[in-house]
Amino acid sequence: MNETSTAQPAPVLVIFGATGSLATGKLVPALFSLHRKGRLPPGTRILGVARQDLSDDRFHALLEAALRAAGVVAQPAAWREFARRIHFVSGDVSSVEGLSGVKQALESEGSDGGHLYYLALAPWLYPKAIDGLLKAGLAGRPKAENAPFRRIVVEKPFGHDLASARALNRKILSAFDESEVFRIDHFLGKETVQNILVFRFANIMFEPLWSRNFIDHVQITVAESKRVEDRGPYYDGAGVLRDMFQNHLMQLLCLVAIEAPSRFEADALRGEKVKLLRAVRPIDEMAARRDLVAGQYQGYTLEPGVRKESRTPTYAAARLFIDNWRWQGVPFYLRSGKGLARRVSEIVVQFLAPPHNMFELPAEQSLEPNRVSLGIQPDEGVHIRFETKIPDRGMEVRSSTLVFHFADQETAAPPDAYERLLLDALTGDASLFMREDEIDQAWSIIDPLTHAQEDPTAPPPEVYPVGSWGPAAADRLLARDRRAWVLETVSETGTAPPSVSDEQPDHEVGRR
Ligand code: BG6
Repeated sequence: MNETSTAQPAPVLVIFGATGSLATGKLVPALFSLHRKGRLPPGTRILGVARQDLSDDRFHALLEAALRAAGVVAQPAAWREFARRIHFVSGDVSSVEGLSGVKQALESEGSDGGHLYYLALAPWLYPKAIDGLLKAGLAGRPKAENAPFRRIVVEKPFGHDLASARALNRKILSAFDESEVFRIDHFLGKETVQNILVFRFANIMFEPLWSRNFIDHVQITVAESKRVEDRGPYYDGAGVLRDMFQNHLMQLLCLVAIEAPSRFEADALRGEKVKLLRAVRPIDEMAARRDLVAGQYQGYTLEPGVRKESRTPTYAAARLFIDNWRWQGVPFYLRSGKGLARRVSEIVVQFLAPPHNMFELPAEQSLEPNRVSLGIQPDEGVHIRFETKIPDRGMEVRSSTLVFHFADQETAAPPDAYERLLLDALTGDASLFMREDEIDQAWSIIDPLTHAQEDPTAPPPEVYPVGSWGPAAADRLLARDRRAWVLETVSETGTAPPSVSDEQPDHEVGRR
């Protein structure tokens, strides 16, 4: 198949930073998979741009090697057909001269079916890249009506704080219209993350219970066993609050707590998320002392690229409240860290205990509250825990779990998050990308936390052993409310039993 001979003008995906790890390790495997499934818009071409001087053949060889390294089995014929879509041009995105080769290559395409620019670059290059595209006449604005699309995909980290995110947004919006900007959070491309919306809004059973009237609290865990690896220089300047909370955890919080959008459509969905983020109770420095725990894994300061005296947190846990009718008084406990016991991402929604127990249970037994656990990874599914009778034991009860796993229904492994996101960006669906105001709101929540944590008078992060479940203070954060961290999708939670204090948990005040 000769892709360039299609009658319809075809889009071109321009990947800046095409020889880097994101492009070779994530984007190209996802594009190859879309190609094999026949899902790429007809005739889609891919233009790799990097500063090296590579022939198309050498670029193809580099990509093929990266695919093999990623464990993708590429049939030679399928690979050759895919490779025909891909060209390489040497370029430097930060100047008009550096972009002349790119411009020429795009113009030589003949028909213009739209350009999608993917900035797979170091974040400090984003402003230069936007300026370069604008000056070279490749950006979205100014644009004639009905002109072919110009879109840009911007990776995280999107800024370092609210001020820098706003400056970056201003820069991007000087060259592209908001409708042309695709700010990526790859968690939104995960099937299990999208399934949160389906679980909540395609069923009638759960939504009536999904509020302060029936829910005791919600836990969101995004735990990683891996350490910072070779990302020390970036990570040490970011830490877990910027690297994971501002984006991935805020997105999970949104999806589990938003009101139902009227349609699955970019602005309806993003509007609901912004409303939710605006309702998150601001955490001032006093509150942060109580509601934020920071940790650092043992040996972190010996990692390459990390400052010897670094106080950067590799773990954080926080208690948040959402000030609206649905969630008033319900704590949301969020935690994420590296160097932990295992890789697991899960949302646990714990319901209230039944208001009255009519059964005479043995002295040591009590009714356990129901739980819905939404497994994000590696357990991709849903667990629902409820009480059942133990046969032939009077009225004794025990907890049982109904389990759904995607893997039991599907023969193929779920696609990588980038597949869905790349396809959406190519076809112009921004539902799973972040809008400017969403980024702002998320930073408004995170900024006070980073300020409190980085205050030189604040205690340093608590050191925790690699392979543990994080600092003991994170267990105390919940124990204070007479709760404990739980995971339903993995067996060993490693959490300490809650230490029941006589103290009245403060969230209970005025509730029910
Ligand atoms: C990235 C963070 O956004 O997400 C990394 O920068 C983190 O630090 C990664 O490891 C986790 O993503 P996933 O898809 O592997 O869970």
